[in-house]
Amino acid sequence: MTPVNSLASPQPTTLPRLLRGLGSGTATLSLDAHIATHGPLHIDIDAGSPNTTLHTTIAKSGIGGRGGANFPVSRKIDAVIAERRAPHVLINATEGEPPSHKDHVLLRSTPHLVLDGALVCAGVVGAREITIAVQAGSTAEHAALTAALTERRSQHMHPGIAITIATVPDGFVIGEERAVISAINGGPAKPTIAPPRPFQKGINGAPTLVQNAETAAHLALIARYGAEWFRSVGTPDEPGSALVTLTGAITKPGVYEVALGTRLNDLVATAGGLTESARAYLIGGYFGTWIDARDAHALTLSDADLRARGGGLGARAIIALPAHACGLHETARVANYLSNESAGQCGPCVHGLRAIADALDDLAKGNARAQADIERWLTLVAGRGACRHPDGAAKLIASALDVFADEIRAHTREKRCTASATKILPLPSPSSPKRKRA
Ligand SMILES: Cc1cc2nc3c(=O)[nH]c(=O)nc-3n(C[C@H](O)[C@H](O)[C@H](O)COP(=O)(O)O)c2cc1C
Ligand code: SF4
Repeated sequence: MTPVNSLASPQPTTLPRLLRGLGSGTATLSLDAHIATHGPLHIDIDAGSPNTTLHTTIAKSGIGGRGGANFPVSRKIDAVIAERRAPHVLINATEGEPPSHKDHVLLRSTPHLVLDGALVCAGVVGAREITIAVQAGSTAEHAALTAALTERRSQHMHPGIAITIATVPDGFVIGEERAVISAINGGPAKPTIAPPRPFQKGINGAPTLVQNAETAAHLALIARYGAEWFRSVGTPDEPGSALVTLTGAITKPGVYEVALGTRLNDLVATAGGLTESARAYLIGGYFGTWIDARDAHALTLSDADLRARGGGLGARAIIALPAHACGLHETARVANYLSNESAGQCGPCVHGLRAIADALDDLAKGNARAQADIERWLTLVAGRGACRHPDGAAKLIASALDVFADEIRAHTREKRCTASATKILPLPSPSSPKRKRA
C-alpha cells in the first residue's frame, strides 16, 4: 500500500485543496480532469482486511469529522474494526442544514473526490460495501454522483467494492446518522435510540463507519499526500482546511475553503467584504451561536476559539446579519423551523422546542415575561432527547437572548422593532422539493 502518492502528482502547496481545479462555473470535474488535478489514488483495498498503514496515516493527520462534531476520524475507525465483523461504509451527504451548501458543492463539482474518500474509508476498515446517502431533493447532486459512478464502472475501477447511492427523505434531522441508517434500513427516517451506535450496528446490522462527504474528500487527499501535508495548514489541534458556507450581508456569498484557525475577518475580506455593516454573525449554522459583530474582529475559525465563547464551528455555515435586520425576529423564525423539524419522538424536544418557539414569538411581540419562561425551558430541553437536536436549538436561542439584549429591550419596553429587512436566515419553502432554499 502506498499512503502517499509517489507519482509526480501535483501536491498542492496552497489552498484550495478540495476545491482545486474548479472554475467559477458549475461544471463537474470528469474522471480524467479529477486525476489530472489530484493525481491517481494508490491504496490497497483488500476488502475483508483493514489497511493498517492507511489507518496510521489518518491517525497521524489528526483529522476531525467535518459533519459538525469534529469527532476524530481515527477513533471511529478503531471502533468499527474492533467489532471484528464485515463492516459497511456510509458517506453522509444529506446536508439538511438550510444555510449550508458545502457538501452539495462538493458532490456537484468534484464527485470523484468524494468517491475516492469513500474508497479510502472502505480500505481502512476492510469494507466491501459503501452507501452514499443524499436527500430526495438533491437531484443535481444525485445526478453528478451517478454520472461519476458510471464513468468509473466503464473503466472497471475498484472491482469487488459495491457502491450504492441511497436517497433519503428531505429534512433537517434526517442528517443525523442514526436517522440516515434507519431510513436506509427501511425504517422511519428518525434517529433511533442509542446504543447500539452505528459502529456497532448500522446498515443491515453491520458495523458502519459513518463520515461526512467533506470528511471523505479530505481523506482522499490525505491518502495521496500524507499526514504531514494535511497538517501543514490549520492549527496543531485542528489541522487542515475546511469548507465554509458564508452568506448574509456578504458581497460574494458562497462556499470557501479556509485553513482552520483563519480569522473570520480575513474570510469576509476574501469574500469581497460586507455589503453593509453587520449586527452579528451566526457561526455554526442552526445549531450554532450568535456572536456580536463588535466581538467578532479577533474571532478565528476554530472550535477552540468558539468553544471559549460558548459555541462551536459545527458544519461551518456562517451568516452575517445586516445591521438593519432583527436578530430576535430571525431567531424566532429559525426556532419555529427547528421545532417543526423535530422528529416527534422525545417529549422535551417535541413540547419544549414548541413552547420555546412560541415564547420567542411572544417576546418579539413585546411580552417581557416570555423571556423568563424561555430561559427556564432552555435548561429543561438540552440533553433530554435521543439526538442532539434540542441541544443545538437551545444553544442557538440562548446565544440570541444574550447577543440581542438591546433588541429585546426595544421590543418589550419601547414596543418597537427598527428592522427594515426580514427573512435573512434561509428557511426551506414548504413547496420546495429540496425544502432548504427559500
Ligand atoms: C439533527 C442532526 C442533523 C445532522 N445533520 C447532518 C448532516 O446533514 N450531514 C452530516 O454529515 N452530519 C450531520 N449530522 C451529524 C451526523 O450524525 C454524524 O455525526 C456525521 O455524519 C459523521 O460524520 P463526520 O464524523 O465525518 O462529521 C447531524 C447530526 C444531528 C444531531
Ligand atoms: S431529540 Fe427531537 S429530533 Fe432528536 S430523536 Fe428526539 S424528537 Fe427526534
